[in-house]
Amino acid sequence: MRRVYSLYSTSVGKKYTMAVSGAIFVVFVIVHMFGNLKVYLGPEAFNHYAEGLREFGAPFLGHEWFLWVFRVGLLAFLLIHTVAAWQTSRQSWAARGQKYKKQEKLVFHYASRTMRWGGVALLLFVVYHILHLTTGTLHPDFIPGDAYHNFVTGFRSLPVVAVYFAAMIALGLHLYHGTWSAFQTMGLDGPRIKRWREPVAIGVALLVVLVNLSFPVAVYTGILQ
Ligand code: HEM
Repeated sequence: MRRVYSLYSTSVGKKYTMAVSGAIFVVFVIVHMFGNLKVYLGPEAFNHYAEGLREFGAPFLGHEWFLWVFRVGLLAFLLIHTVAAWQTSRQSWAARGQKYKKQEKLVFHYASRTMRWGGVALLLFVVYHILHLTTGTLHPDFIPGDAYHNFVTGFRSLPVVAVYFAAMIALGLHLYHGTWSAFQTMGLDGPRIKRWREPVAIGVALLVVLVNLSFPVAVYTGILQ
């Protein structure tokens, strides 16, 4: 345990921690996006999927057991990712006086500032999103147990659509910079990898943003009802 902590206390250790916990979120966001695509198959398919998440592991596991284990795990990784990001920021503020080439400093500074504020925006979005579509606290027409209804009535107001648009842009930038710097952290920056690192980072970010934005757009324009 002490060895794990002494590795974590280095700045490389923190970056590894961010890369690994970040990769878990990338997988979650992609799986969540594919799951949400079921909404295009209609109410029955989508509600069946939502219920399946709650019954996952039956008959060995009880109602929502898997979901709760999953939620606790996700929250733990979110905390780890956020604490490591916060501590890395503090370290880089402390090292501010150090000399970089001017151009390098500018690019680095821009990317890390985007990551920091984008990360805070995403945290706020996740809280809003859970209160909106999971608990229904901020949903004016929420029916417990009817995930399809909550989905297609959840994006009928322009301010809600605007919040999701802003959040997906923040998510796209975070995914792009995050994937890119995770490659760097893992030492995956040889000439061959460098050639496809950029397209992979852009491709993942674009796919997630465009598919996720299709949901509020489809509801708002009446395609999904
Ligand atoms: C427009 C894009 C999105 C849509 C339409 C969407 C849709 C949904 C829906 C319908 C639920 C409730 C599922 C249920 O209760 O059965 C949900 C839950 C959730 N979503 Fe999203 N989501 C989107 C984007 C995101 C993003 C980008 C993240 C993470 C960064 C995210 C994280 C979560 C989390 C953590 C939950 C709670 C899961 C739980 O504990 O039950 N979602 N989402």
